[in-house]
Parts: sequence; C-alpha cells; structure tokens
Amino acid sequence: MCGIVGYLGPNPAFPILIEGLQRLEYRGYDSAGIATLEEGCLLRVEKKKGKVVDLTNHIGEHAPTGTIGIGHTRWATHGPPNDVNSHPHLGGQGKIALIHNGIIENYEAIKELLTHRGHKLVSDTDTEVLAHFIEEVRISSGLDLPDAVRVALKEVVGAYAIVVLDQDHPDRLIAARKSSPLVIGVGSNNEFYVGSDATPIVAYTKNVVYLEDEEVATMHRSGELKIRTIGDVVITPEIHAIEMEIASLEKGGYEHFMLKEIFEQPRSIQDSIRGRVRLQTGEIHMSGIDDHWDVWNKAGRILIIGCGTSWHAGLVAEYLFESLARIPVEVEYASEFRYRNPIIRPDDVVIAISQSGETADTLAAIRLAKEQGAHVFGVCNVVGSSIARETHAGAYTHAGPEIGVASTKAFTAQVAVLSTMAIHLGHKLGRLEDKAFMRLISGLSNVPGLVDRVLSKAEPLLHVATVFASADNALYLGRGYQFPVALEGALKLKEISYIHAEGYPAAEMKHGPIALIDQDMPVIFIATHDEVYDKVVSNIQEVKARGGRIFSIVTEGDKKVRALSDHVFEVPKIHEALAPLLTAIPMQLLSYHIALLRGCNVDQPRNLAKSVTVE
Ligand code: F6R
Repeated sequence: MCGIVGYLGPNPAFPILIEGLQRLEYRGYDSAGIATLEEGCLLRVEKKKGKVVDLTNHIGEHAPTGTIGIGHTRWATHGPPNDVNSHPHLGGQGKIALIHNGIIENYEAIKELLTHRGHKLVSDTDTEVLAHFIEEVRISSGLDLPDAVRVALKEVVGAYAIVVLDQDHPDRLIAARKSSPLVIGVGSNNEFYVGSDATPIVAYTKNVVYLEDEEVATMHRSGELKIRTIGDVVITPEIHAIEMEIASLEKGGYEHFMLKEIFEQPRSIQDSIRGRVRLQTGEIHMSGIDDHWDVWNKAGRILIIGCGTSWHAGLVAEYLFESLARIPVEVEYASEFRYRNPIIRPDDVVIAISQSGETADTLAAIRLAKEQGAHVFGVCNVVGSSIARETHAGAYTHAGPEIGVASTKAFTAQVAVLSTMAIHLGHKLGRLEDKAFMRLISGLSNVPGLVDRVLSKAEPLLHVATVFASADNALYLGRGYQFPVALEGALKLKEISYIHAEGYPAAEMKHGPIALIDQDMPVIFIATHDEVYDKVVSNIQEVKARGGRIFSIVTEGDKKVRALSDHVFEVPKIHEALAPLLTAIPMQLLSYHIALLRGCNVDQPRNLAKSVTVE
C-alpha cells in the first residue's frame, strides 16, 4: 500500500525513481510523484493523479537531472486521489519534501497545533501534516534535520515509512519507519536506494538493510549510513543479501503479471515443497516445526490468522490439520482476531499466513498473540518481510515475487506448504499411518506435474468466460476441502472483473442463496471425486431444477456431473486433501478471462493495492 522509492548517488535519480515506481505500482496506483534536487539545490516536485505513465507524460522531455530524489505511488487513505493530495508533500517553507506510506492517526491534533502557529496546509493528507510538523520542529528547536525527524516522530501515533529530501543538504537522504516496511539498498559506488520492498532495488544491488520500527536512517553521499532509534540509540546497520532475480519482476512475454503467475504455478508449487518433501527416503523435513518440536508435540489447538486469499488458504489448512493431524483448528480474520480480546491458551500454536508479510492486521494480530505467550509460526512469501522476522519460526512459500494484485501462485504455494505441514505433523504425531503418509507425499510430489497438465488444457475456459462475462452476479459452491476454493474463486472474480460473486458451502445454498438462482445466475460448482461428491451432485440437481447456469469443475472421466452441467472443466484425479491445489487453477483462469473480456485492468484492479499496510 503506497510505494516508496529513493536514490542518492552519482547518477541521475529520475530514471531510477521512475523505474522503481513502475515496479512498485502494484502497491497503489491512485497517483504518482517525485521530488529531486536540481542544480543550485533547487527542489523540483512533479506529481500527478493516475498512474506512473501519467506522471512521465506530464514531465515529458524536461526530465529532472539531479542525483538525489524520492518517488511515491499512492493508494489513497486521507483525501481523494488528485494532484494536490499526491506525494511528495512539502514542509511549510518548501525546503523539505516528504513521501509517506502508512497512516498518522493523530494528524488532526498535530494539524491544529500547526494551524495555530500559522501553517497553511493545501492538501487533505496526513502526510502533509507530517512534513510541516518536521519542519516546524526543525525550525523551533534549531535541530539538524535527522534529529528533528526523530523528535517529531516521537509525537506521532500511527504507522509510517517516510523518506525526506532536504533542500539545504543535497548530500543526504533521511528515512524512517514504524509498522510500514522500508528497505535500504547499499550500492557499491557510495549509492543508496530506498524502497518499500526490494523490487525497485534489486536491479542495482543485492545488499540491503531492513529498517526496523522506530529507526531513523541518514544516508550520506560519502557512503556513510547512520541509524538511530527515535529514542536516540545508535544502531549498527546489518547488511543482508537478497536472492531475488530481476527476471522474476518482469512479465516474461506474458500479457499480464497475473497470467504469468498463474502459469508459474507448476514451478512455484515445486519450489514450495522442494527440500521439504523427500519422496525417495519417505520423509518430510521442516525446520520451523522440527526445531520447535516441544511446542508442536503438545499443541492443543492451532489458531490460523490471515486476510483475504491468505485467510482462504487458512481455511483449507483447517480441513488439512484436523483431518490429517487431528489437531483442532480455528481460522480467523486477523482484523477480527486483534479486536475481540481472544483467549489464547498456553498450548495454542498460532499460524500467521501472508504473501507480503507486511499486512498490518496480520502483523498486529501476531504481536497480540506473542504478547499473550503464543508460539507464532509464519507462512510468508516475501523473504525478510516484517511477519517473517517477527514470528518465532516459519516456512517461506518460495513462490517468488507476486506482482499481479490478485493473488494466484501465492495461494497455491501457501496451500502446498500448509499441506506439507499437516502431513508432517500427522505422521510425526503418529496420527497418520506410514501407508497414508507415503500416499500423501507421493501425491504432493505429483502436484506440479498435474498443475502443468491442467494449464496445458485450459483453453476451453475461454469459452466459459465468454458465456459468463456479461453476468452481474455469480455463485461459487463447494464442500469440504473445496469450500475454501469456492470462496477464493468468488474473490478472484469480484476483485478483477467487478462481478458480484459469493462463495458458499454447497449445502448452505438452500438456507438462503438458492433464492437468487434463475436462468441468469452462473453457478460454479467444484464437484471433484471426494467424500462429499454425491452430496454435491444433489446440490447441483437443486440448482438445475431452478434453471441456474451450471459450470462444474470435475474429476477427469466424470459422467454424473457432466450430464447435469452446462459446461465442465476436468482436473486430474488426486487425493482429496490435495485437490484444492488443482481446482484453484481453473478458478483463477476463468476470472482472468472474464476480466479481460470486460475490459478490466487485470493486474491493477480499481481500489485495490497489493500489500495492505494500513488497518
Ligand atoms: C486477493 C488478495 C488479498 C490478500 C490479502 C492479504 O487476491 O491478494 O486478499 O490475500 O490482502 O495479503 P497478504 O497475504 O499479503 O497478507
């Protein structure tokens, strides 16, 4: 949510900032802006409502040439998306420019104080208040800017990742964070890069410093990097090497990131189980579990927290853990968990699921669970993310960067990791016999190949998409392991095609949603061969009797459901516990094709942003 980029070094900042903003655009695309220090220490600010391309068109041929600058792509919180509310914002005297990701909760109180002192604010944003406040502190205290930033931030309640450019000091850039991510790239030529994540940095350097909460960094043209906490404690910067490859941030010949990421799933699922599932020796190794066996061995309950798609992966995990490891599970939206005074027992283990590892609600829920003594296990995709660093142990999903705003490969990688965990725990706890264990790990090892098979025969989904593209509503129904997939299918459709869609357990339909069914209502059933297959067939009959238009995902060779459905898509036969890894694929592709047919921006759907770092 909001992308931040910064550069200080010997080269012109503008191309680096624009390229960085393009890479970060998935975090927000309401407006984009840059500030640079030009010859003669002139602060130049350019900002525009809309996408990064609107900003570059606005700048045209008169590109800035300064070698220090900051850039921002906005996901609006305070104030509508327009040119004035775009970042960067200036302090009262126009000497500092600031970009911000997060929310300043006490901005109204600070604004009142500033107004009393004669400050005139021009935007509706909390960010402009912060820029004025820092400048006010600097002027009234006579402090140097890094100290003024520190002192000002002590008064701030809320979340922030900021970068500040100072007209009076063209040789330094100041950055700070609390509860919003910020990464500093350290280049070889006395260069510094700043990013909300590593994506705008990785093309230039693999050496990064993750700024921690309440730390203020001062980067200097001499190559010096100083970090202090807002309480003035000196911190020694710790340099980490990132493994991300630049090719993973490109579309690689695909029309959209989402399509690329859907087609990457055979590999991303393979990467998520690689080294963990060892078919030859009939073993699973997961250090996040094995090294903390005392905790898992006595786990009385698992609490799973996450948001959106990650929450859906958590629901799949509920079925997996309860059925394979016989551990009771509760799955909860992180945003609800944190505000309902949850009861956490000493033998509870909390699993937090997050692609970005930065989701504010999930992070806050983790902190609450930790405060109450729980052992927290993270399932994250982004290496080095806040959630990965704040959990006691965990397992990376290794899906690689996910740029499309609608989550696809991250979901299947999460489900693959959670499946591996459930199978491992079930076996290690003696609740899954050797034969069943071997069947499951062999099934899991086959998944990448089977996903490849699903993708290779996905063409007919385009026809189904053509039939359903004009619908206003859609119902997704599944039972057991397929109920969360139905929820995920509905979420994918609504977020990228703007068709209203609901996911339901198929049997619940007759308790209300059946009233919606008529000849215009597409009903998408997941009716694969599993324990509840016959029950789902009855549910399909109920819809057919009311004239609903039925599209069913079935197991290869299915006859019963085919006879009842208007359209079917077959997936290969697999153990029912692993079937969500296959049935999720046609759901993703159907939404993708429908959204394209409706002329929607698949990778950047309206109102959304990839990493939700505000509450
Ligand atoms: C949907 C989607 C969101 C995220 C949710 C949580 O396609 O991407 O619903 O799943 O915002 O994000 P993470 O997993 O980064 O915590």
